[in-house]
Amino acid sequence: MKTYEISRLIMKYRIGNPFETDAVLQKGRECDKENIEYFQIEETEGFRLSYRMTPQDIIWGLGENQKGMNKRGGVYVSYCTDDPNHTPDKKSLYGAHNFFVVDGEEKFGVFIDYPSKVTFDIGFTHSEFLDITVEGKDFDLYILKGTSLREIVQQFLSLIGESYCPPKWAFGYQQSRWSYMNAEEVEKIVDSFLYYDIPCDAVYLDIDYMEKFKDFTVDDASFPNFEGFVKKIKDKGFRLVPIIDAGVKIEKGYDVYEEGIEKNYFCVDEKGEAFVAAVWPGRVHFPDFLNPEARRWFGLKYKGLIDWGIEGFWNDMNEPAIFYTNKELHKAVEKAKEAQNQNLDIYSYFELRDAFVGLLNNLKDYQDFYHKSEGKLVNHDKLHNLYGYNMTRAAAEAFEEIQPDKRFLMFSRASYIGAHRYGGIWTGDNHSWWEHLLLNVKMMSSLNMCGFLYSGADTGGFGGDVNPQLMIRWMQFSLFTPLFRNHSAMGTRRQEPFAFDEGTLHILRNIIRLRYALIPYIYSEFMRALLNRDVYMAPLAFHYDDERSRRVEDQLLVGDALMITPIYEENAGGRYVWIPEEMLLWKAVDYKNRSYQIYKKGNAYLEADMQETPIFIRKNHIVLLGKHGSSVEELCHDELEAIAFVDSKATYVYYDDDGTTKEYKNRQYKEVLIEIEKIKNDFQITIINKGNDKLKKISFEILDIQGNMTKKIVEVS
Ligand code: GLC
Repeated sequence: MKTYEISRLIMKYRIGNPFETDAVLQKGRECDKENIEYFQIEETEGFRLSYRMTPQDIIWGLGENQKGMNKRGGVYVSYCTDDPNHTPDKKSLYGAHNFFVVDGEEKFGVFIDYPSKVTFDIGFTHSEFLDITVEGKDFDLYILKGTSLREIVQQFLSLIGESYCPPKWAFGYQQSRWSYMNAEEVEKIVDSFLYYDIPCDAVYLDIDYMEKFKDFTVDDASFPNFEGFVKKIKDKGFRLVPIIDAGVKIEKGYDVYEEGIEKNYFCVDEKGEAFVAAVWPGRVHFPDFLNPEARRWFGLKYKGLIDWGIEGFWNDMNEPAIFYTNKELHKAVEKAKEAQNQNLDIYSYFELRDAFVGLLNNLKDYQDFYHKSEGKLVNHDKLHNLYGYNMTRAAAEAFEEIQPDKRFLMFSRASYIGAHRYGGIWTGDNHSWWEHLLLNVKMMSSLNMCGFLYSGADTGGFGGDVNPQLMIRWMQFSLFTPLFRNHSAMGTRRQEPFAFDEGTLHILRNIIRLRYALIPYIYSEFMRALLNRDVYMAPLAFHYDDERSRRVEDQLLVGDALMITPIYEENAGGRYVWIPEEMLLWKAVDYKNRSYQIYKKGNAYLEADMQETPIFIRKNHIVLLGKHGSSVEELCHDELEAIAFVDSKATYVYYDDDGTTKEYKNRQYKEVLIEIEKIKNDFQITIINKGNDKLKKISFEILDIQGNMTKKIVEVS
C-alpha cells in the first residue's frame, strides 16, 4: 500500500503496540504520548480519555450512528452490530467510525484507530464531558488541527485516502427487495419499469437467487441459464446486482466450503478447528478476511459471477451476523428442557426467554473464534470491527486483479474507517418510519466525514409497511444521495413505484426522472468531493459559521450549489426552514416544470405539496441539468440546462469522465468551466471547455437578486 508522509497538522500518538488496521494511509511522525493535547488520559482496564466541552462545542462525525448531526447527549459504542431495530436507544449499528470533530472555540478532530470496542460518552453521563473508553491498551490516537470544521474533515480524508469510485450507472435509481424469488419475477419488475416508463439502472438479487443460500452459487431451478438471464436483462437496460454473505455454508462437495477447509482459510475455534456459527444457510464457517491469502481466495470467487456478466455486488451479514452457535443453542435447549413442566416465575421465565433471544449476535460468540495474523492467532473480539471492512477489501482487491481498469459497484453493510477506499456502504435494516427518514438525513453528512461518499439508506424503509406519502418524501430526499436504492424486507408491503396507486406512481416517476436530470450535477459534485478529499453532503456548518446555521439538524448542503430541506413529517404541507443567506428556491414538480422564488436570510415557512421537491440554490452558484433518460448510459449530455442565482459572479466546474474506467486517476477527465458575471443589467457568460467533446450547448436561466430572469443559450465549442 502506498503511504504518505503525515501532515504537520496531524498529531499521532501511539499507545502500546496496536494491531495494524490499515485505516490510514499516511504513516510517520509520532508525537510524545506523555503530552497529549486536549485530553486527560487515564489508564484503566484499557484507557479513558476525557475532554471538558464548553457549552458551545458541537461534536460532529462518528459516521454511521444514531441521534443528531451534533452527537452531544448520546453514548455511542463502536462495535459492528447486526441489529435490525434502530430505535433511538441503540448504541451500535453496523459500522465503527471512530472519527469526530470538536467544533467550538477549540477546533480539532479525533480518530481512535482501535479495532474493537470503543465507547464515546458525549455529555450523556456528565453534560460537560466527552469521555472515550477504549477497551484495550493498544491503539493509535490521531488529533487533527485546522481552523474550520471543513478543513479538519479534509485533513482526515487526506489521512485515510481517496474514496472508492463506483461506475456512473450506479448513480441511477436502483430497485431491490428481499424476495424476488425467481427469474420471471425479476423480469416482471424490469418490464414494469419499462412499461411505466420509469428510469432505473439496476435490480437487486437478494439471498433468494442462491442455491440454499450458498455464496457464489445460483439456484438453477429458479434462475436457469443465469448467464443468459443476466444478458437478457442487460439488453433491456438493467444490471443485476447479487448479494454476497459472509458465512460459507458447511456442505460436503460445495467447492467454497471444501477449499476453505483444505487451505485453512476459515476462522478457527480454540481447538484450531473451523469455527461454526449459523446464519441463513444454517451452519457456516467465516472466511478469515484478516489473512491476506484467504482474502484473495474469497475475492477471486466473485469472478464466477463476473464471468456471467455481473458488474456489481453488495456484501452483507459481515459484522459478522450470527443467528446462533452450537454452544449457546445447546445451553438454551437444556434450559428449555429443565423448564418443561415447571411453574416458571417471572425471573425464571425471563431467563428462559433471554437464553433464546440472546442467541442472536451474542457477544460471547465473538470471543470464541480466532484469526490468523502473521502466523499468530488473534481473538476475533479484539479485531471485530475489521471483519466487514476486510470482506469488502477482499472483493475490491480481487476486482483490481480481475479487471484492473473497470469500476465495479460494491457496497457493504459492516465497515470500519478505511473501508471507504474499497466500497460504499448502505445503512442496513431501517424501518418504514418517518423517524428513519430523518435519521437518514442526519447520518448522511457524518458518513461523508468518514469518507463514505457512496452511501445511502434503504429508501422507503426496509422493515415494516410504507405508506404512499412516506415513500414520496423519502424518495424526494434519496434522489440526492449517491446510492439511491429502494429496498424492503420479505413480507412487508411492496414498495416498487408501480406498487402504489396511480397518483403516487405519477409522483414517484417524476422524482426519479428528476434524479436522472440532476445527474450531471450530482456526478460532478460527487467526483469533485472524491478528487479533492472533500464531502458531497454536508451540514450547513461547512459553509456558514453563524450560530443559527451551525445548529441546523435537518437541512443539508448537497455539493457546492444546493441546500435541501427534506420534509419528514406525515401529512405536512411544508416545513420551517432556516435560510442562511439569500437563496433561490426551485420547487421541482418534475425536471422540466420550474417555478422560482427568492428567499431572504432568516426563518421561513416553506410550503411544499406532495409532488413538490424543494431545492435551494445558493447565491452565486449554478446547478446543471440534463434531460432524463431510461438509464444513466442513455443520458446524452450534449445539451445541458443551467439554473443560476447570481448577484455578482458565479462559477461552476462541470466534471465528467467515461464513467466506467479508472482513467480519472490519471486525470483523464473532462472539465467545463462556466462563469457568469453580472455586468450592469446583463450577464456575461464565459465557457472554457477542457475536452468535453460531447457538450454542444447550455441553456441558462439566470435569476438575479430581485428575482428577474434572464434566459440565454450558449453554444459550446
Ligand atoms: C439483511 C440485510 C437486508 C437483506 C436481508 C436478506 O437483513 O440487511 O438488506 O435483505 O439480510 O438477505
